[in-house]
Amino acid sequence: MLQKAYPYFLANKAVYANQDLVVTNKYTGEAATTVAMAKADVIDKAIEAAEKSQPALTAMKPYERQSILNHCVKRFEERFEELAYALCIEAGKPIKDARGEVTRLIDTFRIAAEESVRITGEVMNLEITPRAKGYQGMYKKVPIGPCSFISPFNFPLNLAAHKVAPAIAVGCAFVLKPASRTPLGALIIGEILAETDLPEGAFSILPCSRDGADLFTTDDRFKLLSFTGSPDVGWDLKARAGKKPVILELGGNAGCIVDHDTDLDDAIERIVFGAYYQSGQSCISVQRVLVHDSIYADFKKRYVDKVANLVHGDPLSEDTFIGPMISESEASRLDGWIQEAKSKGASVLCGGKRDGAMLQATVLENVPNDASINADEAFGPVSTIAPFSDFDEALEEINNSQFGLQAGVFTRDIYKAHKAWDVLDVGGVVIGDVPSWRVDNMPYGGVKESGLGREGIRFAIEDMTELRLMVLRTPQ
Ligand code: SIN
Repeated sequence: MLQKAYPYFLANKAVYANQDLVVTNKYTGEAATTVAMAKADVIDKAIEAAEKSQPALTAMKPYERQSILNHCVKRFEERFEELAYALCIEAGKPIKDARGEVTRLIDTFRIAAEESVRITGEVMNLEITPRAKGYQGMYKKVPIGPCSFISPFNFPLNLAAHKVAPAIAVGCAFVLKPASRTPLGALIIGEILAETDLPEGAFSILPCSRDGADLFTTDDRFKLLSFTGSPDVGWDLKARAGKKPVILELGGNAGCIVDHDTDLDDAIERIVFGAYYQSGQSCISVQRVLVHDSIYADFKKRYVDKVANLVHGDPLSEDTFIGPMISESEASRLDGWIQEAKSKGASVLCGGKRDGAMLQATVLENVPNDASINADEAFGPVSTIAPFSDFDEALEEINNSQFGLQAGVFTRDIYKAHKAWDVLDVGGVVIGDVPSWRVDNMPYGGVKESGLGREGIRFAIEDMTELRLMVLRTPQ
């Protein structure tokens, strides 16, 4: 169901240039297809085309932008299984998770279609002093201009969509660099965008090597850089981005508190999902679980039983819950962190074995705070558990992290819920569920090392627009 070869998209057009990028099946390791790769000269042309197309995009009417987004929704629905299959092969994402991501892609574009006709301004009375008598202000939002987008491997469709869909909603041209390991999802979005009436140059989608991609960061013709990926890369890009604003959606080592008043069956089911779906390769995957000591032993037994029984294997199988990690080197890195934790006194309660890119779903206990598996971002199928006795101390422990993306708190106590919301230094606090929970209209992003700014259509639209004021004087 994959095409034999995929183009890149330069100024809205498919270009079947070199097929230098080999995309592998992440489960078998075999070559699955090939993709055209852009070099710096092509990226330069894409930026020039984006700049040229911007006035035509700015002039488009909201209903025209909305109809382009609606076209995408319709075509994603028609190509649903093809999109899910592509994700399953290129990312090793279990087919059920892959279908879940296609559903979210459709949500993201649908939300953008709705928002595209709601971008408004305000009328302000400026008469705050005698010298402003007869003056009125009005502002509207105008597109910020051509945007540079860099999207990650773990949600090849939906995290590209969180940049592309709001850009179309507001009328910003863009050049997107999808992750080289998983470019297919974004290229299928490109095929569908190429069917629309977007002005020529409005979009380019260019897989390219990291070395050749500097223009995405440094070129001043871009008026915004929006990056989703690892913290090291993100902060480095920001330092080199010049004057343009930068949005960073980076990593985390999300914490989850389970207090004694919660429904344990429900909490365990949700935490198993939040820690291990798509092999933990989500920035908001549950990594550190803190459980009230009065229920810790019960939690531990039932949690470990469930994790140990997760079905590992071929992501194309409907039963598979744990597929491969994105690469053998990533699995080996995380395996090394498990060994490091063991050498520092941790116990492996289940899992802990690796075969190539397949790392077993693993639960660790007695992990010191300075072990990488607690202190850094695991981005794989490993969680650590520990007891707590005092709720406030558990909140402090969740905050004891360089990251701050989302946190989850299982409690039925409304005062504790508010306390958590007040105290946790994160972008989002999820009460009664895991930090991994997200729908695509909510503000999403982090603080500290986890990034800058928020996505979630309306919030991305804020970043992709400028306020433009008009002052109107009526002589008195
Ligand atoms: C991420 O990995 O940052 C995105 C998580 C999600 O969209 O569910």
